[in-house]
Amino acid sequence: MPEIDRRPVPYLDLTIQFRRLEEEWLGSIRDTGANGTFIMGPNVQAFEREFADYVGAPHAIAVANGTDALVLSLRALGIGAGDEVITTPYTFFASAEVVTLVGATPVFVDIDPRDFNLAVDQIAARITPRTRAILPVHLFGCPVDLAALMKVVKDGDVKVIEDCAQAFGADHRGRRVGAWGELGCFSFYPTKVLGCYGDGGMVTTNDHDLAERVRHLRNHGATAPFVHDTIGYNSRLDEIQAALLRIKLRTIDEAIAGRRRVAAAYMERLQDTAVVTPRAPEHGGHVYNLFTVRVPRRDHVRQSLLDAAIGCSVCYPLPLHLQEVYRELCYRPGDLPVSEQAAAECVSLPIFPELQEAQIDRVCEVVLGSL
Ligand SMILES: Cc1ncc(COP(=O)(O)O)c(C=O)c1O
Repeated sequence: MPEIDRRPVPYLDLTIQFRRLEEEWLGSIRDTGANGTFIMGPNVQAFEREFADYVGAPHAIAVANGTDALVLSLRALGIGAGDEVITTPYTFFASAEVVTLVGATPVFVDIDPRDFNLAVDQIAARITPRTRAILPVHLFGCPVDLAALMKVVKDGDVKVIEDCAQAFGADHRGRRVGAWGELGCFSFYPTKVLGCYGDGGMVTTNDHDLAERVRHLRNHGATAPFVHDTIGYNSRLDEIQAALLRIKLRTIDEAIAGRRRVAAAYMERLQDTAVVTPRAPEHGGHVYNLFTVRVPRRDHVRQSLLDAAIGCSVCYPLPLHLQEVYRELCYRPGDLPVSEQAAAECVSLPIFPELQEAQIDRVCEVVLGSL
């Protein structure tokens, strides 16, 4: 048996990729500077087209970040005070925060223990006359069972806004996430599957009118230069970030294949142990933005990883229904038990396309040794 390499393992290393893209990106920054168009220029326009083609939705509208993508989508559907939006409590805070930001109320439904995603079979029971939308999150890169979800909302009164922030490139039954619901919302935060070197986001939609509304809202609700009929936002993607994202999009399939290779290597090494690895979706492709496992004595496992200089994270330690800021919604511990259990058992291990087999061996050695 070869010796295990016991050097530190980073949770995420974006510098390897930067070195590969550096010359090309710096070249496009120089081109942008030379032509003097920094906002809503040719790279943003081209990227919107290329992104729409990749996702398989006719419209893509670039915005300033993933949180804005969600806010603009809710506003484009006219969702606000008095409305309810059903979402998951087991996600990054932004998924519910945006509902509150537009004046509506998040209604939390528990998750499926097998994949951390919204339990689609529990949604119908929570729909009321005030429900305007479902906001499923393709958590950690795992696609929600969208075919089943679309059956729940088939009468058309309740809309679907997909939170695809962690799942660029994931698909369900051959159709990519972001092409199923009324609107799809993406984040280009640097740690995402398709990330930029700053903030960025995108809204996708199959509906021409919704696309126009999002375009209008992202630019201060302007109908013509200096003419405004709506209170909107300054939410635009920078030209130099769009240039980088265009470069990255060209090799994104290889990056996703790299993430799948790492995930498969973890699953092989951790099978038949006390570690519960993520379930591969039955009808689709997971893109493993994060590789989150469940372990007994999670805090001890986490500390063992940190002591061994292995990066890890707890995504997420406190479900949203129990956050202090949502106390007025009156949820109590025990109300959404599957989410609460996930929060107590989960730890996310290092994953990025360039992670080496020897590093995966080391992570697994420490995890298994700490059980
Ligand atoms: C599930 C989810 N939704 C929304 C967001 C918000 O994206 P951004 O950070 O680009 O505003 C994130 C980002 O971390 C996320 O993980």
